[in-house]
Amino acid sequence: MRFAALAIVFGYLFTGCAKQDDANSTRGKFVKSLLSKMTMEEKIGQMTLYTSGWDVTGPVLNENYRKDILAGRCGNIFNAHTVTYNRELQKFAMENTRLKIPLLFGYDVIHGYKTIFPVPLAESCSWDLALIEKSAQLAAKEAASAGLNWTFAPMVDISRDPRWGRVAEGAGEDPYLGSLIAASRTRGFQGASLDDPLTLAACVKHFAAYGAAEGGRDYGTVDMSERSLREVYLPTYHAAVNAGAATVMSSFNEVSGVPATGNRFLLTKILREEWGFKGMVVTDYTSINEMVKHGYAADEKQAGEQAVSAGVDMDMQGAVYQNFLIKSVKEGKIPESVIDQSVVRVLNLKYDLGLFEDPYRYLNNQREKENTLSEEMLAHSLEIGRKSIVLLKNEPFNGVKILPISPEVHKIALIGPLADNRVDMMGTWHAAGDETRVVTVLEGLRKALPQCQINFAAGCETSGENRSGLDEAIRLASGSDLVILALGENYVQSGEAASRSILGLPGVQQEMLEKLSACGKPVAVLLMAGRPLVIRWMANHVPAILNTSHLGTMAGEAIADVLTGKSNPSGKLTMSFPRDEGQIPVYYSMKNTGRPLDPANKYTSKYLDVPNEPLYPFGYGLSYTSFGYSELKLSSDHLSMKDSLLVSVQIKNIGQMAGEEIVQLYIRDLVGSVTRPVKELKGFQKLMLQPGESKEVKFILRADDLRFYTSNMTFAAEPGLFRVMAGTSSMQYLEAGFELK
Ligand code: BGC
Repeated sequence: MRFAALAIVFGYLFTGCAKQDDANSTRGKFVKSLLSKMTMEEKIGQMTLYTSGWDVTGPVLNENYRKDILAGRCGNIFNAHTVTYNRELQKFAMENTRLKIPLLFGYDVIHGYKTIFPVPLAESCSWDLALIEKSAQLAAKEAASAGLNWTFAPMVDISRDPRWGRVAEGAGEDPYLGSLIAASRTRGFQGASLDDPLTLAACVKHFAAYGAAEGGRDYGTVDMSERSLREVYLPTYHAAVNAGAATVMSSFNEVSGVPATGNRFLLTKILREEWGFKGMVVTDYTSINEMVKHGYAADEKQAGEQAVSAGVDMDMQGAVYQNFLIKSVKEGKIPESVIDQSVVRVLNLKYDLGLFEDPYRYLNNQREKENTLSEEMLAHSLEIGRKSIVLLKNEPFNGVKILPISPEVHKIALIGPLADNRVDMMGTWHAAGDETRVVTVLEGLRKALPQCQINFAAGCETSGENRSGLDEAIRLASGSDLVILALGENYVQSGEAASRSILGLPGVQQEMLEKLSACGKPVAVLLMAGRPLVIRWMANHVPAILNTSHLGTMAGEAIADVLTGKSNPSGKLTMSFPRDEGQIPVYYSMKNTGRPLDPANKYTSKYLDVPNEPLYPFGYGLSYTSFGYSELKLSSDHLSMKDSLLVSVQIKNIGQMAGEEIVQLYIRDLVGSVTRPVKELKGFQKLMLQPGESKEVKFILRADDLRFYTSNMTFAAEPGLFRVMAGTSSMQYLEAGFELK
């Protein structure tokens, strides 16, 4: 909340920004008075968002868009950034338009602006909510300092399908963890007050259920029960809305027959009426127009009517509102009050961002200089990078542990297309990420191990059939004490429009891996991908595997710290790794079925050719030390609807090195009015333990934690027997039981 003195700014009488919803608040009166001066064309202009382009010579704005801004037909721009350019655009709007309404500047600041943090899926593996919030806060600080005021993030789509390339942008498969992360990221971007020039308005996306596309094919059909929608897919968006997200983006996909962008049930009934969302809804890129191809609208005009009636306030890039809405209003198809309502939401946002008070508040060259790629940004990129790494496997080779790298190792062969690579370390959606500042693994390792001879060969590329580098790679590997392989996906092999049906290492990387493994040297793989890959051969033949994913600017240093043991890996997977594509979807919170797997009985739910379990489950991740779990205790064998139950478990560091463990709490509701998953995450704690140290970890369970959508769709807990599981992953735990009475 901000209390500014009475000020006259650009012709407006302005008094502070007390955020009240009623029309009599300061904001309400201001916006109403402005609205009363607007023509219909200007109103629709506020509901229109166009992209800026980026040329080799720098940023450019399409001449027609410039004319649109001038005429009040476009009030918002995305993909325009840097203070100098955005100031020029803002000045253009402020000095030349009739009503002098400031422009909004949006951009996909997903995991950093110039300084890049790990892709969100990787970052979620830290399970560290404070650090995740800090990533969003710093990304906002850097981006807002570069003239932006709105980010198209957080992306909170739950997905259980690694074929879908956009899993890289989210927090994995679980709604409980996903919701906590969604709220943390929203708070991080927005800070305490939207008008703080170091924060951005958040945009929760993609509403809704975009991650449930059939076959994992991007933009694909989503069809599911309302129960699954509410229980699995909606909680993350809801958590972000509850955390105060200023805007929501409607998704490309249809949900059970109705495109999300024209879906009144989602955008009005659930979002506004049930959740009380008061902010602004923007479409995804041309998703109004796409309702024609969906076969939901006969033409764009009808699509625009459907979108605005469903609750979409702003049209991203489609020009449908601009081209057709006036006509729809004139024809009486859309009441003017509906348009006004949307315009008010857009103007409210601009007001809350402080733009009416000072349209140039985000446009300060000095601030841009100070906050771009600053020490603070780089230090955080390194810290969250280390914490995002998951140790998948670490077994001895000829009786000797491979990781952390032993002082006996003098000659390392660092091989792979991602080993001395900058751009791919930044992963998908890396905004204006500065490639030149990325620390490669080769650089990081050479700095960390100056006494070692580190020889590098790319060996091959991340795609294609070029095998010409394989011999050199084999030669280097054969002459080394240790082979470190940086393999995986390049930055366009995950993300939007990057669905894959075969999830092995792309290109000839698998062939190279097999050849190098045959050299008789110890091998450690750094797995760098935007999604869980299918790595069955690797898991069977390679003694050490670190899942590093795409870690951003400080990737090489973070990885070197973990390889050398300066940092002990502590991440846990937030998305299961399938053994085989044919298992997908494979996730921990599945249902039991009427014929749960029984290896001795053919007629149970299983495959003939592949086990049911994933290769590495949700919650899994090793450490250079080991942890022992004991004494799982419940404060009682029953829980009443009003009381709480204390669950405690003892964790001991039984290895030689200090390390962090993420202790996870799952429950199972044994009998319900509808069937319940075999496990549901209900809590976790991350703790640091010195060698030999042990601690008791406590969780509190209440009946509210056991709620679900019952047979009549009320969200309630049902009495009955429950199991409690506390452990190191969704597949390794101690177990006890209680009754809810
Ligand atoms: C993506 C969104 C993104 C938008 C603007 C779309 O293609 O689906 O996630 O925010 O483009 O760049």
